[in-house]
Amino acid sequence: MAHKVTLIPGDGIGPEITESAVRVIEAAGVDIEWDRQLAGIPAVQEYGKSVPEQLLDSIRSNKVALKAPLTTLVGKGFRSANVTLRKKLNLYANLRPVKSIGGVPSRYDKVDLIIVRENTEDLYAGIENVISPGVTEAIKVVTETASYNIARFAFEYARKNGRKKITLAHKANILKISDGLFLDSFEKVAREYPDIEAEDKIVDALCMKLVMDPTQFDVLLLGNMFGDIVSDLAAGLVGGLGVVPSANLGSEYALFEAVHGSAPDIAGKNIANPTALIFSSLLMLRHLGEEQAADKIWKSIVVTLAIGKKLTRDLGGTASTTEFTDELIKEISSRT
Ligand code: NAI
Repeated sequence: MAHKVTLIPGDGIGPEITESAVRVIEAAGVDIEWDRQLAGIPAVQEYGKSVPEQLLDSIRSNKVALKAPLTTLVGKGFRSANVTLRKKLNLYANLRPVKSIGGVPSRYDKVDLIIVRENTEDLYAGIENVISPGVTEAIKVVTETASYNIARFAFEYARKNGRKKITLAHKANILKISDGLFLDSFEKVAREYPDIEAEDKIVDALCMKLVMDPTQFDVLLLGNMFGDIVSDLAAGLVGGLGVVPSANLGSEYALFEAVHGSAPDIAGKNIANPTALIFSSLLMLRHLGEEQAADKIWKSIVVTLAIGKKLTRDLGGTASTTEFTDELIKEISSRT
């Protein structure tokens, strides 16, 4: 039976890399009935809202969505569609696997990190005020419930996926109450998982250690803001944003997306690298129980990148999005 998945082609390079991901999934023999929906700027143009009700209804009904990047709307009255989706669907965990891939130029070749980022609160709760002219504040929200939920998510993930160690990064030496609560909740949850090593690091020291030797870490757990920053740093260790996937997960719904943005500078030119969205599709296929197809696509990408005949420009090649996709599909088909 076909899986039903909500598909958000996004804007900028979104539609080009979405077509590539859809073709690759089809080539691997997975039957998906796509329910295409608008979000962000195209949705505002069509419905006057960046996250229309029919999009939310579609995800609530299908439970799973694959999303291409959305250009963030600028100006008052528009909240980021990405943040709105995460909030409305309570996608409280952002999972970003960061893994070295042969053939992708990078600083390290043995990185295998899982980054778990709290996705709903912290400074991204969006509470900002002008106190008086020239004086502003942004409020960092940390709740015990969200801190417990994300810590439990990280330990459960580690246990199910054979991971050995979780490192929590925080700034509790300065933010004694808010990050103090995040750390305290982590330590309480850790006691229920004696089979997983738990440690904590001040986030600035963690950044230094990550850059010097990323192989000393296994699972990293961070709040929303530090998670945003550190996961991009980690992407830089394995070749950049063009090759890193992510999953936004809650207890009911799952939304898979690339880490990078809509790249307006190269949109419509058929030169974007679709790899990150294809990797995000692999996380989705595993979530749907399509392990064999996911393995086949993973091996085919690794071979296609290692042979390096048809690489996109960001990876030092000259191939178009379509040419790279055709080459990858040839490799997938040779394994069928
Ligand atoms: P960006 O990630 O779109 O682009 C940064 C640089 O990387 C650009 O030079 C771009 O050409 C390049 N790049 C990104 N993805 C690429 C790909 N797949 N292949 C080849 N090159 C690629 O970041 P930027 O310019 O800061 O953001 C553009 C828009 O995207 C903004 O409105 C931003 O808010 C939004 N954005 C949306 C995200 C999402 O929907 N999840 C995530 C990040 C940014």
